[in-house]
Amino acid sequence: MPAVFVYLVISAVLSGTLAYDPDMLQDICVASPSSGVEVNGFACKSEANITASDFAFEGLAKPGTITSSVGSVVTTANVEKIPGLNTLGISMSRVDYAPGGVNPPHTHPRATEIVFVLEGDLDVGFITTANTLISKTVKKGEVFVFPRGLVHFQKNNGDKAASALAAFNSQLPGTQSIALTLFTATPAVPDDVLTKAFQVGTKEINKIKDKLAPKKS
Ligand code: GLV
Ligand code: MN
Repeated sequence: MPAVFVYLVISAVLSGTLAYDPDMLQDICVASPSSGVEVNGFACKSEANITASDFAFEGLAKPGTITSSVGSVVTTANVEKIPGLNTLGISMSRVDYAPGGVNPPHTHPRATEIVFVLEGDLDVGFITTANTLISKTVKKGEVFVFPRGLVHFQKNNGDKAASALAAFNSQLPGTQSIALTLFTATPAVPDDVLTKAFQVGTKEINKIKDKLAPKKS
């Protein structure tokens, strides 16, 4: 068999098995972020110290407080909040939207997301790598899927508050919000990269940077 064919088969198999969080090798591995051991995920806490609270979280019970200028807030329920999720490959979040609020375009590099509308109607969409927008209005009780890594958003077009629950096939999906990533990174993305990318001048770039900069309290 030609070596190149063997290489392609092995690459395809590996990319298939690595397309999501690695599989668990034991019943539970409650995260111990302070262990100092550096692994992919978190080291396991000693089973003698595990309690039910390692698997529980009350933070999604109530709407989050919206303070952002975009009119939405995301409350995450991932391995950072629920240590028992370590190695299990799933997590959730709750999104609350003010009337007209937007969860701005963002991606999750490590997960596909499925969103369930708890309250209100949401205009949702994602953009494929062929630059096609797939969009729809989803109503209370309906679900919509955002494939892994693709830029997506939601908007509450109603005149009442809306909310949604999202589930992810990763214990820590990661979020890159497109505008914040480009305009508020540290160190900053060079202005000459942004002016070329957006085909505008430094003045426009600085205006966006000022608007998005975290407000000093
Ligand atoms: C919604 O898109 C979320 O990431 O929580
Ligand atoms: Mn999302």
